[in-house]
Amino acid sequence: MRPCWAVITAAGSGVRLGCEGPKALVDVAGRSMLSRSLDIFKADPQVERICVTAPVEWVDRFGALVGPGVRVVPGGTDRQTSVRAGIEAVSDNAAWPNTQAEGAMLLIHDAARPFTPAEVLRRIIERLEAGANAVLPAVPVTDTIRQVGADGSQNSASQVAGALVDRSGLRAMQTPQGFDADFICQAYRQVGDVSAFTDDGAIAQAVGEQVVLVPGDSMSFKITVPLDLQLAEAVAAL
Ligand code: CTP
Ligand code: MG
Repeated sequence: MRPCWAVITAAGSGVRLGCEGPKALVDVAGRSMLSRSLDIFKADPQVERICVTAPVEWVDRFGALVGPGVRVVPGGTDRQTSVRAGIEAVSDNAAWPNTQAEGAMLLIHDAARPFTPAEVLRRIIERLEAGANAVLPAVPVTDTIRQVGADGSQNSASQVAGALVDRSGLRAMQTPQGFDADFICQAYRQVGDVSAFTDDGAIAQAVGEQVVLVPGDSMSFKITVPLDLQLAEAVAAL
């Protein structure tokens, strides 16, 4: 069985949620998002290493919260820079005694998605074990999508609509995004400045890799704005 590692990104500040401290420490029905997200990976027996990215000034506080065996590293100013720090830490074999590195797979997950079902992890791991280097969970887009017309300003109160986009060919990406660990380490190094990318799959594509999509899950929603937190409270009560 190939070992699996996880990087959980939790270094964001939660500007859109409008929280006081780091978003990952926001309480959802009695437990933080980070604690809930960590449990998804701690519960999977194949996961041998877990690394969490924290806001620089919160590393010690996060370290006290994550539990034994989990490493916390300072994140960067954007998500992909944080992920890079997490990848470097989780793949530093000297820092992880008694764990395997040979053939490792790496799952990169947003702490802000605390309800990802175990089946999603299993689906991703299955495709990685079947030989894929990059596997992303994807869900259909449910709203009708239109482009903004060429003469429409982004800031005006109303805009002219452009072309309708066929949503049957569109998918929204979730996390965890799964990779062969050696492949994604190398891809992050090769790409250099990763700050312009918005997910890890984009970095795999930037180095020419084929990316496989598997079904995500609506429970994997990301807590971004205050209404999402209310949804999360309701989900936690189910
Ligand atoms: N993230 C990170 N490092 C950053 C920015 C984001 O590790 N510099 C993480 C967040 O902690 C989150 C995930 O990336 O788990 C997805 O980011 P997002 O939902 O945008 O969270 P925030 O950046 O915290 O929120 P906002 O953009 O509203 O400030
Ligand atoms: Mg953000």
